[in-house]
Amino acid sequence: MTATATRHLIGLLLGTEDDWPTAFEEILRRLGPVQDPAGGTHEFDVERITIEPFSLRSRPRYDLVIDRLAYWYYHPREWLKKVAMMDGVYLLNSPFTFQSMEKHAAYCAMMRLGLKIPETVLVPFKNPVDNARYAYTSARYNQPFDLDAIAEKIGYPIFMKPYDGGAWRGVTRIRNATELHAAYDASGEMLMHLQKAVDFDVFARSLSIGAETMVMKFQPDEPMHARYAVEHGFLPAEAGAEVVTIGRLVNAFFRWAFNSCETLIKDGEVYPIDYANACPDVALTSLHYYFPWAMKALVKWTVFALVSGRKGRLDLDTDKFFAVADDPHLSYEEKLEGYRALADEYFDAARYYDFCASRMPRLDEIVLDWVAGPDFDQLLVQTVKSTYPEHEHDRFIAHLRGLLDLWVRDESASGSGGGHGP
Ligand SMILES: Nc1ncnc2c1ncn2[C@@H]1O[C@H](COP(=O)(O)OP(=O)(O)OP(=O)(O)O)[C@@H](O)[C@H]1O
Ligand SMILES: [Mg+2]
Repeated sequence: MTATATRHLIGLLLGTEDDWPTAFEEILRRLGPVQDPAGGTHEFDVERITIEPFSLRSRPRYDLVIDRLAYWYYHPREWLKKVAMMDGVYLLNSPFTFQSMEKHAAYCAMMRLGLKIPETVLVPFKNPVDNARYAYTSARYNQPFDLDAIAEKIGYPIFMKPYDGGAWRGVTRIRNATELHAAYDASGEMLMHLQKAVDFDVFARSLSIGAETMVMKFQPDEPMHARYAVEHGFLPAEAGAEVVTIGRLVNAFFRWAFNSCETLIKDGEVYPIDYANACPDVALTSLHYYFPWAMKALVKWTVFALVSGRKGRLDLDTDKFFAVADDPHLSYEEKLEGYRALADEYFDAARYYDFCASRMPRLDEIVLDWVAGPDFDQLLVQTVKSTYPEHEHDRFIAHLRGLLDLWVRDESASGSGGGHGP
């Protein structure tokens, strides 16, 4: 067999961020060419995608696209659908399920699989829907309902939040009937869920990238830069494994490879509350200590996907998951094992870990070297300057340097990225 050389073009679809794209480009550059098991050489170019008119029949130049833009900008979102559907471009998230699986559909799917989603009720719009047919339709078919009775049945405290929410928009914690009516009256044109509040001991946010997951302790009431606490082993081993499984399950089910998942843990029980966050925030200023892990995972998954010729899946193989859910002989724990096996199979996990170990053996060292050096520090300073007002620069530079120094020390000592591994 003659050895081949292949160049792969990676496209980044970006909004305001400059930090992680720079990190991603730099790590790939330092990594250099990767050899596949047959001896072929693979080289990687990265390009930031610009937005322009496109013919639906035009052929894109990209082999893989990482998207952090389409969740709010619909021209590139439609371009993503076109290149996934027509041209086989590998995307880390299916734009089809991403669009249709807002919180509500994601709740339904995971309830169907038997996960412990808190009791949730969808109530009709408070204000009339802007449609000429609404008055007649609602007069004829909308049943009067007793909001208080619904809330009492769920049991206070309750969260009221939009069925398709994000960024804490329209989220209210409700303790009694007065607050309930005030929140519903204020919901206006938003379609709302009422959800039982979990009085949690720990909030875990897990970030999954391909076959890897990092479980982080999350402090939702803190400002953005302090939400992820650096704390290892904050969950009992079983709950930690369950959080990892849930994140991977959600992703395998919806065909996502880059997503964050929020779970609340109370007395060792894991309650998922928000897990349709495809293309999540991976900013240096929010991930801090965990940023190098995220960048490595993104580079590894991208390289693995390209070199192994991974194909994006646009269909959902729901029956496989439902078969586990519906098996009357399986306990909850056994179902989780079943889901974990399906997710590992979907992410080709064994092959991925073998690939990383044998094809990119120096990556940990390369990233450690970079994060410990002056180029990374320059990126850190630049990022702080473009994120915060001038009077906060010194404070945030010192804060981030401290956390990244800690990562460098932990990484040098352990040779791994910290947190929960595979
Ligand atoms: N059932 C619940 N029990 C306890 N806390 C909850 C519950 N639902 C939501 N919360 C709290 O409200 C916050 C926002 O809720 P949620 O994550 O569902 O909305 P969001 O708009 O997606 O917010 P974000 O963008 O911050 O993730 C959560 O981070 C959590 O602190
Ligand atoms: Mg959330």
